[in-house]
Amino acid sequence: MPTVEIDGRKIEVADGQTVIQAADQAGIEIPHYCWHPGLPIAGNCRMCLVEIEKMPKLQIACNTRVTDGMIVHTTSEKTKTAQKAVLEFLLINHPIDCPVCDQAGECKLQEYYMDYDRQRSRVPLPQKVRKKKAKPIGPLVVLDQERCVLCSRCVRFVDEVTHTSELAFYERGDHVELDLAPGKVLDNKYSGNVVDICPVGALTSRDFRFRARVWYLERTESVCAACANGCNIEIYHREGQIYRFQPRKNLAVNQYWMCDEGRLSYRALQGEGRLTHPIVRGENAFLRATWGDALLATAGRLDDIAKTKGPGAVGIVVSAQATNEEIFLLRRIGARLGATVAGISWSPLDASADDFLIKADKNPNTAGLRLQGLAPDGAVDGLLAAARAGRLAALVLHRVDLTAWRDAALAREALERVPCLVVLDTDQREAAQYADTVLPVASAAETDGTFTNHAGRVQRIRQAVVPPGEARPAWRALAELLAALGGPAAAGDAAAVFAALAAESAPFHGLHWAAVGDQGRPAASA
Ligand code: SF4
Ligand code: SF4
Ligand code: FES
Repeated sequence: MPTVEIDGRKIEVADGQTVIQAADQAGIEIPHYCWHPGLPIAGNCRMCLVEIEKMPKLQIACNTRVTDGMIVHTTSEKTKTAQKAVLEFLLINHPIDCPVCDQAGECKLQEYYMDYDRQRSRVPLPQKVRKKKAKPIGPLVVLDQERCVLCSRCVRFVDEVTHTSELAFYERGDHVELDLAPGKVLDNKYSGNVVDICPVGALTSRDFRFRARVWYLERTESVCAACANGCNIEIYHREGQIYRFQPRKNLAVNQYWMCDEGRLSYRALQGEGRLTHPIVRGENAFLRATWGDALLATAGRLDDIAKTKGPGAVGIVVSAQATNEEIFLLRRIGARLGATVAGISWSPLDASADDFLIKADKNPNTAGLRLQGLAPDGAVDGLLAAARAGRLAALVLHRVDLTAWRDAALAREALERVPCLVVLDTDQREAAQYADTVLPVASAAETDGTFTNHAGRVQRIRQAVVPPGEARPAWRALAELLAALGGPAAAGDAAAVFAALAAESAPFHGLHWAAVGDQGRPAASA
């Protein structure tokens, strides 16, 4: 392994690493525009020029491999002069848009100007080359040609990652401009990624732009729940409102990217139809209840039914939208009640999939159900048949509306006939109309927990925003229901539930909440 010295620090790096990667490994910033770790090297922006001893000229750090004994200076006078020159060159024709540009706060031109340049422009404003502004180029993306620094990241993304080639450079000299290829629209399934990788405000999101200044937003690391891939994301939010999802690096799962469907899935999490209070069926109408009353009444009724009617009188259906912790608690509740517990994983028949990230399974935790012995199979049909035949005295539905699944008429008939129906869900859906108790629970962005993705990788989700009204994280509601049924005292947090799961369930043996961390860990039997 070669050793390189960068700014006086000796760093041992893997064979084949470039200077920019070695510096990154050591936490030393080398400014760059065109280099992106997920794309082929272009070496065209020259922002990463550094001084390397024994080399006659400055070298670009993004395309210079480290050799043993190499000595690099990233803050020498020669390097600083080059950085200023590159920035001055890039800014010659850049518009004075910062006050109205939606990239402000996360723009590498602004940041590098302040960090490496800070000189006055020598070019009078009227002489700047004008290009097209605010041009929609696809359903998610707007292009401002004047702001483009011609780094070619977006072009390489559509050429090398999606292989759709919607973007290219046209014209010559200082009139070069990025534009759509003739007859094309930027509408591939991953188009939003070009906004993330554009280092300046040339490509902005039609969904996010002008909705919030980015410095007002908080970020929470989590996982996309819109399909079984489990792409790692950051949730941007403020005062309880989610503004956007962006991909987070995880080389084992999604590299640096996410699909557009997942990117926009935050919208459905905070819709109008959210359940906000526990409700119980009264004589003529649903009535609001406190959590304490609703849980005690539910536990009492389920316990009575289990004791008087015997094993199999209670059914529990848990969907693959549930976290591993929720599934575990429902299994424990099922064991106390002698209930039949069935897993369900439902996706639209025409659900899209590809050979990159997008999975046809639109649930985040089908593998988690399977690892806990609840492989989605015919067990739900058995429960519905028992309900229709009057043999099921109670049914608990967790994050699933059975009327939206397969044969709605048969499901409605079953739900009507169950004497005690308990629904835990995020949103008002049809099944809740048949319920005796409805318990509002948190969405995936409002709870802590873990999902197991299609490849058996256990990944953390984190609470970014508080649930609406009195809705609660489902692990908490279920832990309290279990305690009310005479089970162990309710766990204080999702980590404690995970620890109990890891202790009890072989596929999760050896996994620790903290060690799952921000990159996930494979389950033992994955
Ligand atoms: S639009 Fe952005 S990503 Fe594309 S070449 Fe221009 S600056 Fe680079
Ligand atoms: S591929 Fe799946 S997990 Fe990844 S962003 Fe898209 S929907 Fe979400
Ligand atoms: S980052 Fe090295 S030339 Fe652009």
